[in-house]
Order: sequence, then C-alpha cells, then structure tokens
Amino acid sequence: MKWTKALSVGNEIIDNQHKELIQRVNDVLEACNKQKGKEKIEEVMKFLKDYTVKHFSDEENLMKKYQYPSYEEHKKIHEDFVKKVDELDEKIKKEGINLSIIMFVNKTLVDWLINHISKEDKKVGEHIRKVKGEI
Ligand SMILES: [Fe+2]
Repeated sequence: MKWTKALSVGNEIIDNQHKELIQRVNDVLEACNKQKGKEKIEEVMKFLKDYTVKHFSDEENLMKKYQYPSYEEHKKIHEDFVKKVDELDEKIKKEGINLSIIMFVNKTLVDWLINHISKEDKKVGEHIRKVKGEI
C-alpha cells in the first residue's frame, strides 16, 4: 500500500500520520507474506493497533477543535476500524497466518483505509482549511 498525493487531505499533521499508518499496515503485510514468526507478527500487529488508536484520537481532537459537523459519525467509523484490527489480531492469535488472514489485511484493512482517507478524511481536511480561511 502506498501513500500518494491523491490521498492527501490537505492537512500536514493528518497526512503525515496517514503515511505512518500505511507504513504499519505494510509492516504487517510484509511480516505475513514473508511468513515471519508468530512473535514478529504479533509485534507488528501491536504497533499497528497502538498507532491506529493514537491517530484516530489525534484526528478526533482536530475535528473537535475545528468543530467538524459530522464528528460523531466519523468517530463511529473509526471505532469500526479499531474493531476490524482487533478482529484480525484475534484471528492471528487463534489461527496463525494463513491465506484468509492475508486476504483480510489486503481487502479489509487496505481497502478500508484507502476508502476512508479518500472520502471521509478529505472532508475533514477541507473543513479545517475552510475554518482556517485557507480555501
Ligand atoms: Fe478518519
């Protein structure tokens, strides 16, 4: 998964955090694809989980600061993603790495993130720029 300009939401803090988040998803993918040991995979999953929580909380604080009108809805979407990551973590702990897990990371996490950033987070970025008088 790659961060490109097309994924920019027009806010440096959010963009930089998205790059880091994508990196951590990639670390999970790499650990799965190269069939690194269980320990390594659990470690990268923990990094992904921790950073997801940090990023969402920072993004939610920004939304509050700039009184984003769809704050509650957006927060709920974040909670759904955290659930998906938790679900994945549970699956890995139970089953180890298998094709269905790799598909889950690729389809569910990667697609979800690209979709969320390009739709929902762009609206947040635009709102912030409007409030700041940048657009
Ligand atoms: Fe978001």
